[in-house]
Amino acid sequence: MNPRIGAAEPELAQALGLPLDTQSDFVLEHANGRLQLRDTREGAPGPIYVDFGSHDAARRRDAGRQLPLARAVGVKGDARPFVLDATAGLGRDACTLAALGCRVIAVERSPVIAALLRDGLERAGSALELVTGDACEYMAALADADRPDVVYLDPMFPERRKSAAVKKEMQYMQELLGADDADALFAAAMSCAGKRVVVKRPVHAPELAPPNHKIEGKTVRFDVYVV
Ligand SMILES: C[S@@+](CC[C@H](N)C(=O)[O-])C[C@H]1O[C@@H](n2cnc3c(N)ncnc32)[C@H](O)[C@@H]1O
Repeated sequence: MNPRIGAAEPELAQALGLPLDTQSDFVLEHANGRLQLRDTREGAPGPIYVDFGSHDAARRRDAGRQLPLARAVGVKGDARPFVLDATAGLGRDACTLAALGCRVIAVERSPVIAALLRDGLERAGSALELVTGDACEYMAALADADRPDVVYLDPMFPERRKSAAVKKEMQYMQELLGADDADALFAAAMSCAGKRVVVKRPVHAPELAPPNHKIEGKTVRFDVYVV
């Protein structure tokens, strides 16, 4: 059975079409100066929210152009590609790329996840552009002049990563969102990107298609498809 999601405040309930219900499995609420999603069930991990001021976010920004993510999208010398992040999630990768100087448009299909991300962006004063909606539809409707250089995909995959923060987020996301439409996203991305499509995968995960090259990190791999 799908988990029940409720909102703790009438404005949130109305904006996101959620029941006003603090007894739901997951509750979206403002607390501690942020918007957060809390699993109310016994033994659940703490709430998830977006925090671009965290140690993890700072570490990723400081690693800069050396990051496998930056190399995969083509950040090099003065080159700062225009990136469409078609699976924004809680915006870690999109914000890292924006902090490196790329123009980034992030698309997120889940209105609840998008609301958490929008709240984090507002608190951080980020210029990242966020679109709530289905990225396949968004890409199909783009005019030629608006196409990005790079489409970046990080579809969900059963998780083995160890970082506590990522583990908690993944636990929430996999229960709330289920499997991603990775193949449809990949097909839409290949028709939309001006230069390349980059797919992030856990190191052990199969490729969506044979890539032109791969950049391997410790736990994740970036498959690069030149279009
Ligand atoms: C693994 S998470 C992405 C994590 C993200 N890279 C980060 O750094 O935080 C995958 C996200 O893609 C979203 N997603 C899946 N299919 C989508 C689609 N067709 N359009 C937009 N978002 C989609 C899911 O709702 C989920 O939030």
